[in-house]
Amino acid sequence: MKAAILESAPGELIVIDDVEHDAPGPREVVIQTAAAGVCHSDLHYMQGKYRTRLPTVVGHEAAGVVVDVGSDVSYVAPGDHVITCLSVFCGTCEYCLSGRLVLCSKRGTRRARGQKQRLSRGGEDIHQFLDVSAFAERMLVHENAVAKITPDLPLDRAALLGCAVTTGMGAVGRTAQVPIGASVVVIGAGGVGLNVIQGARIAGAGRIIAVDRLDSKLATAIDFGATETINASEIDAVEAVKDLTGGGVDFAFEAIGLKETTEQAFAMLRPGGTAVVVGMIPLGTSIELPGVDFMFEKRLVGSLMGSNNFRTDMPRYAQLYAEGRLKLDELVSARIGLEEVNSAFAQMEAGSVARSVIVF
Ligand SMILES: NC(=O)c1ccc[n+]([C@@H]2O[C@H](COP(=O)([O-])OP(=O)(O)OC[C@H]3O[C@@H](n4cnc5c(N)ncnc54)[C@H](O)[C@@H]3O)[C@@H](O)[C@H]2O)c1
Ligand SMILES: [Zn+2]
Ligand SMILES: [Zn+2]
Repeated sequence: MKAAILESAPGELIVIDDVEHDAPGPREVVIQTAAAGVCHSDLHYMQGKYRTRLPTVVGHEAAGVVVDVGSDVSYVAPGDHVITCLSVFCGTCEYCLSGRLVLCSKRGTRRARGQKQRLSRGGEDIHQFLDVSAFAERMLVHENAVAKITPDLPLDRAALLGCAVTTGMGAVGRTAQVPIGASVVVIGAGGVGLNVIQGARIAGAGRIIAVDRLDSKLATAIDFGATETINASEIDAVEAVKDLTGGGVDFAFEAIGLKETTEQAFAMLRPGGTAVVVGMIPLGTSIELPGVDFMFEKRLVGSLMGSNNFRTDMPRYAQLYAEGRLKLDELVSARIGLEEVNSAFAQMEAGSVARSVIVF
């Protein structure tokens, strides 16, 4: 099968090559990939800001159709439509049993070192990226890395639930638990930030202020539910938020992955406010905050994949889409072929797309 491989990082482009997947183990499933979204997280690994074993097949936000299942799989059967999620869970560790599935120890969900790996090329192991490796014509994953969906949800839009939607909506609904009427700032209106914005709208937030450097992104932010926008390339975003709100907001979400904007998010809070870091801040980067702010009960929290319980969340999001309350059609800026993946990452860096989706 054709797959998009990252051979070395940083600096190397992705190459398209032939890869094989193994037969499914007892709890594994094979999925015919229908579509896969291009998420900024992959770019962090390509640029060496995060590290993964190489070579690897990148991509982690996908949907498709089950074509084969292992002997012990009962959750899905061939023909079922599924969304993959990198938040694969074991179901038995302390985090899983206490409901924090994204922090799962993952014991038993991966093939052990020394064992034949799920992916290979010419007999040599290929690392499975984030337990998914979605930029490939088929995926071989643990059954606890998929959520079943109704076949009426178009798979090119379903793919976006695999990361961007679940991360953004979950940051609002699960991590921060934004109450009705609360004031919200979202810094970064890309694929993930737009879903924080629409999550805040659906949660019934009051003011929703979007911050970005590109007017095109801010225009889309309004479509997704932002009530006000700030172009951070023109003015000081912290001062602007404080002016607009008379002192600061209840919740500030960082959806870029920078030290500077994380510190800005915290500085935008009113007393008692919570800043949520959704962006992936590069390895080795430290965040500096004024200590006195903790005397005002301000909080800074991380959010991994929107603190999801994806088998519960994804079907709910699909229902919201069916009812016209969750926007997915507008998230897809471009549908592309697998061989266009490098230009999709370049366009993401340039800021010209909300989400590119690879269709197979
Ligand atoms: N926490 C998680 O589990 C999780 C999951 C998925 C993605 N992420 C991370 O979320 C972040 C966003 O991902 P994405 O796919 O939406 O990326 P994206 O590239 O689509 O969006 C980033 C947005 O930030 C804007 N931006 C960049 N620098 C800015 C600045 N200095 N000030 C204001 N705006 C600025 C860009 O114009 C763009 O609109 C990435 O760091 C990604 O790795 C985290
Ligand atoms: Zn992602
Ligand atoms: Zn677990």
